[in-house]
Amino acid sequence: MDIYVDTANLDEIKIAASLGVLDGVTTNPSLIAKEGVPFKQRMKEICAVVKGPVSAEVVSIEHDAMIAEAEPLIDIAENIVIKFPCIEEGIKACKTLSDRGVRVNMTLCFQPLQALLAAKAGAFLISPFVGRVDDVGGDGMEIIQQIRVIYDNYGFKTKILTASIRHPQHMVQAAMMGSDVATAPLKVIQQMIKHPLTDVGLKNFLADWEKSKAQLVKEPAMA
Ligand code: G3P
Repeated sequence: MDIYVDTANLDEIKIAASLGVLDGVTTNPSLIAKEGVPFKQRMKEICAVVKGPVSAEVVSIEHDAMIAEAEPLIDIAENIVIKFPCIEEGIKACKTLSDRGVRVNMTLCFQPLQALLAAKAGAFLISPFVGRVDDVGGDGMEIIQQIRVIYDNYGFKTKILTASIRHPQHMVQAAMMGSDVATAPLKVIQQMIKHPLTDVGLKNFLADWEKSKAQLVKEPAMA
């Protein structure tokens, strides 16, 4: 499963990239707004750090305006992916850009039929927001399972990008369900590495080593 970091904060992106296992970045208008920086400039900066897919979202909601807004974003870098919402105009815009060979991420997906239409429109990525479904008492991960079955039934190449991830269990479930990608805040990516038994075990290994004489014994020369 590919792992993207879901942020527009450059420091967080650099920290995630330094792990060596980061495959891409997702942003959205709220995340960009939080940074208080010019949109295109920030996308350019992100693309200079991460070579994998970097999603940039338009804020227009009518086909021609969406395409016009996407044009200058497409020119930022080769790894830019254009993000459209799962609305009728978004499906049309997805089809237009996908036919031109531009990669599109269809976002704000909350049910499997939106994912079916996005795939038919040639989307590169579909982004079901699992955390927001959980927030209103639904089962976000069930949607991932449903989309996986639908895409596999018909051989759709659109990648499932599990989004709106809140905790490491979402990552476990996404990987077990065959989600192609998961995008998560830096905190969740860092939580994936953490286990208290690893910390205790390492502490004990190092203490035992420090106490022992083994470290003082001269190693025989290698043949
Ligand atoms: O970037 C899309 C998505 O991951 C947003 O997540 O936490 O705002 O529901 P959240």
